[in-house]
Amino acid sequence: MNPAMPDRSGTIAIDDLEFQQFQRLLFEQTGIHLAANKKPLLTGRLNQRLRQLGLPSYAMYYRAIVSGKLPGELQEVIDRLTTNETSFFREPKHFDFLRELCQSPAFRHNPVRIWCAASSSGEEPYSIAMSMADAMAHERWEVVASDVNSDVLRQARAGHYSLQRGASIPKAYLHRYCLKGTGAQAGTFVIGPELRAHLQFLRVNLNTDLPSLGQFDVIFLRNTLIYFPQDVKQRIVGNMQRFLKKNGYFIVGHSETLMHVAGELQSVSPSIYRRV
Ligand SMILES: C[S@@+](CC[C@H](N)C(=O)[O-])C[C@H]1O[C@@H](n2cnc3c(N)ncnc32)[C@H](O)[C@@H]1O
Repeated sequence: MNPAMPDRSGTIAIDDLEFQQFQRLLFEQTGIHLAANKKPLLTGRLNQRLRQLGLPSYAMYYRAIVSGKLPGELQEVIDRLTTNETSFFREPKHFDFLRELCQSPAFRHNPVRIWCAASSSGEEPYSIAMSMADAMAHERWEVVASDVNSDVLRQARAGHYSLQRGASIPKAYLHRYCLKGTGAQAGTFVIGPELRAHLQFLRVNLNTDLPSLGQFDVIFLRNTLIYFPQDVKQRIVGNMQRFLKKNGYFIVGHSETLMHVAGELQSVSPSIYRRV
């Protein structure tokens, strides 16, 4: 079969060269390395887009993107190829740790600032904000949430979720910080305005020069470093450290480590580091 033609299921085939073009594009833009065995993932996520655009092959799609014939399409590719799995109060020990910090003398100053640096569709920064609203002794704190994917940022700003997704939110928080939908919105909830007032959502690509975000007391970068090769990981963690106050905390996912890339960050417990 001609590789450019869709098969019976409508899947447009991709050859090695085409895969490498998209692999390089994603890497240059985001630092994410798509392993050679991820061809099905790539076609699974881009195939429908080629069909929408009426393009018969990945080579043509690639040429249209790099020649600038499809403005905004590079972001579309990034939005489709990043993996955004997340949930409320994922890896809950980190939120216990945050609540303890909120009650410690270290957090008496104001404003206390937290950066959630790969915030996906918002569940993580809202979990941070609920924990802080509950445990902070004063009201002057803020959460900056950022991601490279503009689609998930839109969802995060909307703060509108199914009740099913909210099942991992402690019941007391659900009542205190969220508003249950009624009528056409039954089965869903939105994050309440008082909590939202503490958050801002920004598009930040950690693989490029970072914008001026100020200094933070805690940086969350969880379940994201796993997508980067070691040299990219080192550069990203190195750049981000400059945004952490002295004695501030840097938190990664439970299955991640900063071994060989920690710089000025010292391990406090597995997945929690402190800037010395
Ligand atoms: C698996 S999700 C993790 C979400 C959340 N931190 C958590 O632990 O539940 C990884 C997130 O990293 C984001 N990401 C990947 N590369 C990025 C980059 N270069 N800059 C900023 N965000 C990036 C993705 O868009 C995605 O939302």
